[in-house]
Order: sequence, then C-alpha cells, then structure tokens
Amino acid sequence: MVQLSTSICLVGGLLGLFLLPPVMASTPASMCTPLKTLNDSLSHRRRYMKHNFPINYTIRVHEREIFKLSNISRMKLKMEELDELVLQRLWFQVNQGVLKKIIRVMPERHPSRPYTAELEKRFRDAEGVFVQSHPAEELQQDLPEPIQDIWDALTEETDRVPESSWRFASPKSLLDNFCHTMCCLFSECFASAEVQQDYCGVSHWRKGRKKDLQPES
Ligand SMILES: *[C@@H]1O[C@H](CO)[C@@H](O)[C@H](O)[C@H]1NC(C)=O
Ligand SMILES: *[C@@H]1O[C@H](CO)[C@@H](O)[C@H](O)[C@H]1NC(C)=O
Ligand SMILES: *[C@@H]1O[C@H](CO)[C@@H](O)[C@H](O)[C@H]1NC(C)=O
Repeated sequence: MVQLSTSICLVGGLLGLFLLPPVMASTPASMCTPLKTLNDSLSHRRRYMKHNFPINYTIRVHEREIFKLSNISRMKLKMEELDELVLQRLWFQVNQGVLKKIIRVMPERHPSRPYTAELEKRFRDAEGVFVQSHPAEELQQDLPEPIQDIWDALTEETDRVPESSWRFASPKSLLDNFCHTMCCLFSECFASAEVQQDYCGVSHWRKGRKKDLQPES
C-alpha cells in the first residue's frame, strides 16, 4: 500500500513537473551572489545616508534618476511584453549615475565615504557579472522607444540637460529606490522558499518599514 501510494505520488509529481510552464529565468543564478552582497550593504543605508547628513539634505539629480517601483509598474502597463532584461539594463544605467552623484557631494573625509565607495564597488561587481552572464547581442539589442528616450536623457551631457529636468532628492530616498527596484527586477535572487513575496509591490515595503527600523535604531 505504502509503496503504491508512493509511486502514485511520484508519477503525479513527475506529471506536475511536465505540466509546469517552462520557467523563464530572466536572472542568471550567477547574479545572485553579487546582488545579495549589495543587499547587505544597502541594509545600512539609513545610518550612512541619513544620519551622517544634515536634516532634509538633498542632492540634485536628473529626473530620470528617480526610478521607483511605481515607474516599473507603469512601464509594464504601458509597454506590452517589456523584457525584464531591458529594465535590468535601465536599472544599472540609472543607479551608476545615482551613486556617482552621491559620492560627488561627499568631501574626502565624510564619514559615509568609505561606505559609499564600498557600495559602488559592489555595484560594479554586480554589473560585471551581469555583462558576463548575457551574450553581447542580448545586451546590445535595441531598446523599446520609451526606454531609449529615458536612456538618452540619462546619458545627456550635464550642461545640456534642461533646467526643468533636474530634481532634488535625499541620498536616503535614492538608495531606497535603488534597493526596492533591485529586489523587484532581480526577484529570483531574493525569493524565499517559505513566503511568497511581492517585491514589486509598494505595500511590501510599507509593511516592512517598521521592522527595518529596529536593528538600526
Ligand atoms: C525638514 O522637512 C520637514 C518637512 O518638509 C520640515 O517640517 C522640517 O522643518 C525640516 N527640517 C529642517 C531642519 O529643515
Ligand atoms: C518615474 O516617475 C516619475 C514621476 O512619478 C518621473 O519624474 C521619473 O522621471 C520617472 N523615472 C524614470 C526612470 O522614468
Ligand atoms: C536583504 O537585506 C534585507 C535588509 O537587511 C534583509 O532583511 C533581507 O533578508 C536581505 N535579503 C536577502 C535575500 O539577502
């Protein structure tokens, strides 16, 4: 009896395996180690990006460098079949600019400078793995037009950016965006087996906010 039910389970399990749609892994597993390392650094962002700066301190960034979960959900709604890889490329492009701008405002001896330099190094490491783990043709594929427009705006020379495109944002809020969009776009690396997490949902982060505060206060 036991044996019979075991084999039924086995057959059922195998059938289930075949019936599952093919998993479209958009994130190569090799990306997960550097991204988790980056996530570890980001968990200290409140201390280094808020407490070490004057109250309400903001820096000037390009409006397109404000890249939040809401941007991702709007883009997915607007563009059908928007490839996750395209958004991942955009994520790297946006955040290299964000990190550069944060570092630029910090004097050599600012207490958050080593932290930020380390964060940038880890970001570069993740980018290196990202580039290595995709064929060049894939990373050079034409971007959908709306994304290309954003890309062009981001890579415009600073003195040619129209005044109206600049925004002020706090370093902490920029790194919050950095962190939340990372978990959303590379969710395969952050998924946990036990709990279903929706890292792309704004409510996920609202819920977690209080919890986040505790170890750092
Ligand atoms: C910081 O900003 C908040 C909200 O705009 C304001 O109420 C507060 O007075 C500001 N604090 C300082 C020190 O400027
Ligand atoms: C995200 O949306 C805001 C408006 O809510 C916009 O100002 C910003 O440029 C958008 N970011 C990107 C990368 O498109
Ligand atoms: C990412 O960092 C957060 C904050 O420290 C932590 O709670 C979470 O477990 C980390 N996720 C992974 C997959 O390492």
